[in-house]
Amino acid sequence: MSILLVSKKRKFSSLKKHIQTIDSNIDVEIWPAVSHPDRVQLAVAWNQPENVLATFPNLRAITSLGAGVDHLVYDTTIPETVTLTRMVLPSLKQQVADYVLMSTLNILRHSHTYYKQQQRAEWTEHQPIEKDDLRIGVMGLGQLGAVTAKKLEESGFHVSGWARTKKELSSIRTYASGEIDHFLKEVNILVCLLPLTPETEGILNLETIKKLKQPAFIINAARGEHLVDEDLIYALDTDRIRHATLDVFTDEPLPESHPFWNRDKITITPHVAALTSEKEAAKLIVDNYKRLLSGMDLTHPVSKNYKY
Ligand code: NDP
Ligand code: OXD
Repeated sequence: MSILLVSKKRKFSSLKKHIQTIDSNIDVEIWPAVSHPDRVQLAVAWNQPENVLATFPNLRAITSLGAGVDHLVYDTTIPETVTLTRMVLPSLKQQVADYVLMSTLNILRHSHTYYKQQQRAEWTEHQPIEKDDLRIGVMGLGQLGAVTAKKLEESGFHVSGWARTKKELSSIRTYASGEIDHFLKEVNILVCLLPLTPETEGILNLETIKKLKQPAFIINAARGEHLVDEDLIYALDTDRIRHATLDVFTDEPLPESHPFWNRDKITITPHVAALTSEKEAAKLIVDNYKRLLSGMDLTHPVSKNYKY
């Protein structure tokens, strides 16, 4: 029996080492050099090439190497009988919460403007935006969104949250999916931490943006497909959005020719709001592998209708 590590771009030798440090008896294969496809029972996948996962006849489960599972749920070549799971790691939650807090503080303290001023040796002060003068809205209050919303609240921000179902989350104002307009109209900084599903794709569009309170800002750390790129450009050009912080893109790496690169009012990071710790991931992978072999339920399963 073996574990397969599969990705189009990621190098997996150190993850393999972490797995075998925990249990040196585990056989780990790295795609594409797989010597015994019939022995693979668990695959760990990140942006896998299409059709690859269907070629392992005894594959029983696939773990996403990240918190997101859209690359698995949208891969229709994966047999229905295969169980899907994902990474829910404390470090991922903390990193995302830190990223959103950092991006928010950058907005309040005009960091983007100061960075540009430094490039021209310009000394000009700008009054910080007061925390009391705005409200942050977190879309998605799951593993990442809930921790992020709480961190923002603990840092002195006014916070609202929106999820499919209404949540109780300290003193955060929460809204259920049908209440989206009430949520949007009180929010200045819109943070997207939703999973990518048919319902959430394109949710950061002009109609949504128009409902935000002014001044309005966007932070997208979920998936590029949540954002309608042309709508953001229009909203920036017409000052409906003052600044956008984007960590995720429909095409990653973001192509050199993409108009986002040259926009003053966009900050780009290369899908690093959270990076999976290989050491932590290895523990979860080994645990799930042993559960699989002994017929136990796997941790953090994902059902194919997107309800985790
Ligand atoms: P969870 O599944 O734990 O939480 C998802 C949240 O979104 C839930 O609160 C859910 O509501 C809500 N939601 C889902 N669909 C809808 C909808 N149609 N309308 C309103 N709310 C909805 O996901 P995570 O918090 O673990 O992760 C969120 C996403 O973050 C991942 O899918 C991934 O795309 C992205 N991510 C990005 C990273 C980065 O580095 N940039 C790192 C890790 C993840 P309810 O609770 O009511 O079901
Ligand atoms: C993700 C991750 O899902 O990095 O984006 O975990």
